[in-house]
Amino acid sequence: MATTKKKSKQAEKSRVYKNLIGGKWAAAHSRKTFENRNPADTGDLVGIFPASDARDVDAAVAAARAAFPGWSRTPAPRRAEILYRTGELLAKRKEEYARQMTREMGKVLEETRGDVQEAIDTAFYMAGEGRRMFGQTTPSELPSKFAMSVRMPVGVCGMIAPWNFPMAIPSWKLFPALVCGNTCVIKPAEDTPLSTLNLVQTLMDAGLPPGVVNIVFGFGPQAGAPLVEHPQVDAVSFTGSSEVGRLVGQTAAGLFKPCSLEMGGKNAMIVMEDANLDLAVDGALWGVFGTTGQRCTATSRILLQKKIAKKFTERFVAAAEKLRIGNGLDKSVQVGPQVNLQQVETSERYVAIALDEGAKLLTGGKRLKGKSYATGYFFTPTIFAGVKPPMRIAQEEVFGPVVALLEFDSFDEAIEIANCIHYGLSTAIYTRDVNRAYRAMRELEAGITYVNAPTIGAEVHLPFGGVKKTGNGHREGGNAALDFYTHWKTVYVDYSDKLQRAQIDE
Ligand code: UN1
Repeated sequence: MATTKKKSKQAEKSRVYKNLIGGKWAAAHSRKTFENRNPADTGDLVGIFPASDARDVDAAVAAARAAFPGWSRTPAPRRAEILYRTGELLAKRKEEYARQMTREMGKVLEETRGDVQEAIDTAFYMAGEGRRMFGQTTPSELPSKFAMSVRMPVGVCGMIAPWNFPMAIPSWKLFPALVCGNTCVIKPAEDTPLSTLNLVQTLMDAGLPPGVVNIVFGFGPQAGAPLVEHPQVDAVSFTGSSEVGRLVGQTAAGLFKPCSLEMGGKNAMIVMEDANLDLAVDGALWGVFGTTGQRCTATSRILLQKKIAKKFTERFVAAAEKLRIGNGLDKSVQVGPQVNLQQVETSERYVAIALDEGAKLLTGGKRLKGKSYATGYFFTPTIFAGVKPPMRIAQEEVFGPVVALLEFDSFDEAIEIANCIHYGLSTAIYTRDVNRAYRAMRELEAGITYVNAPTIGAEVHLPFGGVKKTGNGHREGGNAALDFYTHWKTVYVDYSDKLQRAQIDE
């Protein structure tokens, strides 16, 4: 009896996590904590995490600053070896981390495995950068003079990560920053602290020196804002809502800090009458309801050419009604819960808004109640038809399993409707007409366009990000990420042993 008690006490204890500062685990200065609960079963406590404030951020930034000289002078190929080992360790831990991720944020196991895989892919890609990171050499206009440009780390990077890809997105931020020689302080989303911790733990196990990456857990106003404002933080990378992104961007601008923002989307899929309809229906199901609609890239508008609208809609609704909703750890489940109460309430609110605007609810539209759903945030796959482009359900991001169907006559009209929003992340067109496909690639206002594939599924070695209110011009992923995590140093070496004046001496 006594042993059991002791054991359960230990288990309880082991679920209390701390910030990572300078390689040491530290409770929040305030001693305050918050709970991380399973959105499929709120009785399941995943862990207790520190609710940090500006004092914890100060300590983390000081640790990152202290680690910067050593790390930035470590040769890039050596830094890359740690990323390579991180990729290998993540591959070994993939199943364990995927299970923990499903438990803390709800998406189904197949998808959380994909999330870990995205971090593995990023680790290997960025490890390769350690032996590339190319600059330019170019002839000088003067004799006996050498001209080149090299990438320099920016310094201490502050990162604010979202909950929907709690390992992949932190890896998009941390790995390029690290290979370029920066040190980091990351604040994970309060809904998914464990997955980001698992990522950083793996970096440490792969040999990352103390202080190079620090984690501060907590909430935006208390822990995120001080990180953005901190005078010793040289650059800020944020993924999240446009509302918060605007605040982050305004603060960073006032301090002249480079700031990368990746925010919302209202991603359109166009289905032309010559499309392979079965393929388009499969794509729509995955694009709309994958990750329970909680991707910035989720398909949230489907634009149907009138001739095939009825046929597509019937097949799509029938398939959506067959989706199995439940706990993501259950193998037969295809759609998990939403991440928290606020998200499920947002879905409910937008259903009311759409009905009020005169959209026609074809299926779903409500929270799932009943025995197996009572302790989670489950929302039925929801499809609205008869949606007109100016309606809020066609303009605003829901971030849930809710989609708006719109109809059009001509290709030009489809492009116009697709573009008449404030966001510009991802787009898709289903057609077998190569001319139209190329026109769509040119004319859709978005950072990403798919042909005959849904709006989700970006690969890590290509640029990721959007135009308009989705972002502020930066890209994550691939080589483009290096542009944010480095600045160019241009170096001229004059070996003529005399004063040579550019633009003046011949
Ligand atoms: C996001 O939508 O928030 O492209 C990130 C995708 C994933 C990443 C999505 N690889 O769908």
